[in-house]
Amino acid sequence: MKTIIEPFRIKAVEPIRMTTLQERRRLLETVSWNLFGLASEDVMIDLLTDSGTSAMSAEQWAAVMRGDESYAGSPSFYRFEAAVRELMPFRHVIPTHQGRAAEAILFSIVGGPGRIIPSNTHFDTTRGNIEATGATALDLLVAAGHDPESLHPFKGNIDLDLLEELLRTSAAQVPLVMLTVTNNAGGGQPVSLANIRGAATVAHRHGKPLFIDGCRFAENAWFIKCREPDQAGRSVPDIVRDMFAVADGMTMSAKKDAFANIGGWLALNDDALAVAARNRLILTEGFPTYGGLAGRDLEAIAVGLHEIIDEQYLRYRVRTNEYIGEKLVALGVPIVRPVGGHAVFVDARRLLPHIPPLQYPGQALAVALYELGGIRACEIGTVMFGLKPDGTERAADMDLVRLAMPRRVYTQSHADYVVEVFEEIVRTRASLQGLRIASQPARLRHFTARFRPLAGAS
Ligand code: F0G
Repeated sequence: MKTIIEPFRIKAVEPIRMTTLQERRRLLETVSWNLFGLASEDVMIDLLTDSGTSAMSAEQWAAVMRGDESYAGSPSFYRFEAAVRELMPFRHVIPTHQGRAAEAILFSIVGGPGRIIPSNTHFDTTRGNIEATGATALDLLVAAGHDPESLHPFKGNIDLDLLEELLRTSAAQVPLVMLTVTNNAGGGQPVSLANIRGAATVAHRHGKPLFIDGCRFAENAWFIKCREPDQAGRSVPDIVRDMFAVADGMTMSAKKDAFANIGGWLALNDDALAVAARNRLILTEGFPTYGGLAGRDLEAIAVGLHEIIDEQYLRYRVRTNEYIGEKLVALGVPIVRPVGGHAVFVDARRLLPHIPPLQYPGQALAVALYELGGIRACEIGTVMFGLKPDGTERAADMDLVRLAMPRRVYTQSHADYVVEVFEEIVRTRASLQGLRIASQPARLRHFTARFRPLAGAS
């Protein structure tokens, strides 16, 4: 059969409140055309993020009831630790309340002024936590990763020559090498097993540990199985174990590939680093057997880790985004290709060439998706990256809009609806207008900036 069905039935539902065009126009004005200001009840299809938005399974909810809330030594912790170590056999597994807490702990220890942390591409919170210590976050993505048209199968790979060069010239400044799988900031593109092994070899040759930001490890493993020579016949859990076998540690947000609504961890092999991390954890998160989570959260993660490596699920998961991507391409909507694991990234600058970058084509598209269809997506472009520390602006490299797909939440008819809204956008695109910023904070402006549409607005 060519139809890949959702490999689950639905037991509990959340109603979607239907809104009208007039209502959405009024709401846009109320939130000053910033979609982060919307109440989620006013959104019909919420594609703002795939983080923490997964539908939990019946087994996960059952496990929640088993949660043991003891302050120290809870059996929920040991079930969590065993589930992590079955896939990622690190000596120390340190729970945190989400991914960025693991990053903050790690870089408070190994970061600092003058340090350089290379990666394929750091996610914003990783970059933020590195820079907050005075260190430099350096992206060394392969050239294909910068080309939205390139069909290279592993556009998330790190450039091993650049990594070698960095370590040859500046090893003393580099405490560790990082790799983000899949590469969220680069379009959800995967990293090949060969590249993970290559990065480990280069790092280890210079005496440096390799840490993996494993947020979307299962999607990455599925891409390895589908695209990497000699990997097709292997099981996803075996591929996952191989990905982490060459690493010395990892950071993780369980809000992605663990089907949990909250949670994360820092895992590593180095005993001294683990002692320092646990001491820091006690200060900022909690005792090492709960780390800022409830016992019930640890249980949900343990079950989620077991479910996420299911190949039927991963086939459906990746196909969902490909399906939307293929239909958008057929409509002539430019997207980042190949489609990533967790999201479709639309190239708004090319879709709306009459809107210059400093009139925010990505924001214009995101606003149009909400206005016409009640869909909420996220601008990843000049609004997010264009404000310089001195208060001036520049165009970001690209003006993208990310349609991030929550896990096990929306069905194929929701996907068809998203495509239909794009049909309408393509039909009316010449009439879409840019925006100007009426007020903004000094940093991270995308969350709270207030916009005004340029056409006929005050
Ligand atoms: N690393 C990557 C690759 C991520 O995508 C995220 C979160 C984090 C780290 C931080 O994890 O949110 O649990 O603290 N990404 C979300 C997103 C926010 O929408 O892409 P967290």
